[in-house]
Amino acid sequence: MRVVALLVGMRAACVLLASSWLAGTGADSSSSGRWWGIANLASSVNHLTDSKHVQLVLDPSLALLSRRQRRLIRQNPGVLHPIATGLHSAIKECKWQFRNRRWNCPTTQSPSIFGKIINRGCRETAFVFAITSAGVMHAVARSCSEGTIESCTCDHRHPGPGGPDWHWGGCSDNVEFGQAFSREFVDSSERGSDLRYLTNLHNNEAGRTMVYSEMRQECKCHGMSGSCTVRTCWMRLPSLRVVGDLLKDRFDGASRVVYANKGSNRASRRADPRHLQPENPTHKPPSARDLVYFEKSPNFCYYNRKMGTRGTMGRSCNSSSPALDGCELLCCGRGYRTQTEMVVERCHCTFHWCCHVSCLNCTNTQILHQCL
Ligand SMILES: *[C@@H]1O[C@H](CO)[C@@H](O)[C@H](O)[C@H]1NC(C)=O
Ligand SMILES: *[C@@H]1O[C@H](CO)[C@@H](O)[C@H](O)[C@H]1NC(C)=O
Repeated sequence: MRVVALLVGMRAACVLLASSWLAGTGADSSSSGRWWGIANLASSVNHLTDSKHVQLVLDPSLALLSRRQRRLIRQNPGVLHPIATGLHSAIKECKWQFRNRRWNCPTTQSPSIFGKIINRGCRETAFVFAITSAGVMHAVARSCSEGTIESCTCDHRHPGPGGPDWHWGGCSDNVEFGQAFSREFVDSSERGSDLRYLTNLHNNEAGRTMVYSEMRQECKCHGMSGSCTVRTCWMRLPSLRVVGDLLKDRFDGASRVVYANKGSNRASRRADPRHLQPENPTHKPPSARDLVYFEKSPNFCYYNRKMGTRGTMGRSCNSSSPALDGCELLCCGRGYRTQTEMVVERCHCTFHWCCHVSCLNCTNTQILHQCL
C-alpha cells in the first residue's frame, strides 16, 4: 500500500512539474522574445556599461533577460550596449520597411515592445524575429572591430587568397563572433519543441544568414599621390538597410509551413528543423534565407484588443497611389478626411561670403489625408 501511495505521489509531482513547465512555454509563449524589453533600457546604462563591477540587475528591463543571457553579458564585457543599439536599429529598420503598410511595425513602451503580434505565427512575426536577430549580430560584429567588447577583436582571418595587386589586411567586422553571439543570446529566449519554436528559430537564423551573406570586400589604396599600386582589403558588414530590404523581399515571398513529424519515433522528441515542411507539398522546402510563418495575418484594418492590432484610423495615406500606401487600401475602404495645413519652410536661401546663409520664410499649404 505504501509503495502505491508513493507512486501516486510521484505521478502527481510529475504532472505538477509538467504543467508548470507548459505554463512557461505553451501557446502563450510568454518568454518568447522577452529580451526585446531591453529596448527600454535607461540611457544612463549606456555609460554604466556592463563592466564586471556593475550589478546587472540595476535596470528593471534587465530582469527580462534569462539567467543564460545575463551570464553571456557578464562574460562579454561591453556587449550590452551593442545588443541594445542593435535592437534599436532593428526596430527603426522595421518601421522604415513597413511605413506604408497597414501593419507599420508599431512598438510600445511595455516590455513586450512589439505587442501581441510576436505570440502569433504570421509573416509580421517572422520579420520581427529575423530583423532583431540580425540587428544584434550586426551591432556586435561591428563593435568587435571597433574594440568595444572585451572578448572579441577584428577578424584577422583571410577568407581567400589575395590578388596580384592587393592583399588581405586591415580589420574585418567580426561576423563570426556576431553570429555566434546572436545565436546564443537571441535564440535562448525561445523554448519548446513545437511549430512556433521551430519557426522563431528559423527566422532568427534567416536574419543572421542575410547579414553573413551580404558581407562585402572593401579595399583601400596605398601608393604615391593616390595611385593604387597596392591595395589592402578586408570584409565589411552590409548596412542594416540592405539586410532590411532583403528580409522585406523574403517577407513578401515567405513560406507557410507546417509541423511534419514524419518517420520520427516518439523517443526523439527533440525539435528538429527538418520538421518544418512547406504546407503545400509541391513547394520547395524553405531555404536558410526564407522567412517562414504558419498562420494567416490579421487584416490590421481595425483596432482589436485581443489580436493586439491598432487599426489604420488616423494614419496618413496617399490619395493618388494605387498601392498599399494609397488611401483606398490603407484605410480599408472606410474613406479618409482631407486637411490642408500651413507649413513654414525656409526658402530663397542665399549664401553670403563668408560664411552664412540667409533665407526667407515661405508659407506652403500641404494637403494631408487621414484614414477614417
Ligand atoms: C503618392 O503616390 C504617387 C503615385 O504612386 C507618387 O507619385 C507620389 O510621390 C506619392 N506622394 C507621396 C507624398 O508619397
Ligand atoms: C523665419 O521664421 C523664424 C521663426 O519661425 C524667424 O526666427 C525668422 O526671423 C524668420 N525669418 C524671416 C526672414 O522672416
